[in-house]
Amino acid sequence: ACGIGTAAAQETYPAKAITWLVPFAAGGPTDAVSRNVAQRVSAALGQSIVVENLGGAGGTIGAAKVARARADGYSLFVGHIGTMAAAPSLFKSLRYDPNQDFVPVFRFPDTPMALLVGANSPYRTATDLFEAARKDPGKLTFGTAGVGSSSHLAAEHLASVVKVQYTFVPYKGTGPAMADLMGGQIDAMLDQTNVSLPQTQGGRLRALALTSQARMALFPGVPTLAEKEVPGFLASTWYGLYAPADTPAHVIDVLQKAYAEALADKEYVQSLEKQGIEVLPAESVSADALGRFMRSEQEKWQRVVREAGIDPQ
Ligand code: MLT
Repeated sequence: ACGIGTAAAQETYPAKAITWLVPFAAGGPTDAVSRNVAQRVSAALGQSIVVENLGGAGGTIGAAKVARARADGYSLFVGHIGTMAAAPSLFKSLRYDPNQDFVPVFRFPDTPMALLVGANSPYRTATDLFEAARKDPGKLTFGTAGVGSSSHLAAEHLASVVKVQYTFVPYKGTGPAMADLMGGQIDAMLDQTNVSLPQTQGGRLRALALTSQARMALFPGVPTLAEKEVPGFLASTWYGLYAPADTPAHVIDVLQKAYAEALADKEYVQSLEKQGIEVLPAESVSADALGRFMRSEQEKWQRVVREAGIDPQ
């Protein structure tokens, strides 16, 4: 009887609403990408997905919570470059292990980043900003979504390559950091373009440079850092859906199929591209591909953190 019950349970997943935990405040890029993908996956599954926000400590508080959740497919985690790759190199006592406590489900689209200042900022170019930082080390303030967040990692990486120092101001997500950037409380930010784009178009923020390989039509006239100021400098943020380690394989399968169905819709993919979101080829988004990519990113960030001389907290 027990076997039959299990089979029935397998057939009915998902039988109730699924929670995706976003480890940053609402209104930020991780939240925006997650809600976008969740809506499509939910439609494909015919079941609701509740996106919950729990910010703090660069996303590691949320990760630790889902690492201990029931592995039944109803509590999932939106991990990213920080929580799943860089955090082990940045925190001395992380309360979860990205490799042991989670299994990858699928990879989201990536978001490129932009170096941003407020509309009233005196800085017009990335060079202006670097010169100001050089003149007065530590005076410039950079907003971040906390230690090990993507906004922090990219800005630390940039500072180490350009050899300048900023003072980082951590928030529970780049949503609240961006509000302070617009308000003039902080000087700059390196943030994902999916949320900052409307603010730059609306004239509330100024994008000084992009961290993508090529310029983006969505940001007319904005150069890339790589083309002039910082040759070779690239940064983008990747995200993925993760489940607690013992989650049954069929659950992962159901979720993957729903996501594949969403990505098969060309109009949907175009709507993402219009927002500057980079949709990856199908072979890069599977659970296996995400797992392999995550491990290569863990090695990369271990090296970057060491080379930048960042002391783990
Ligand atoms: C990050 O910097 O890691 C993310 O932008 C955080 C967020 O989505 O708020």
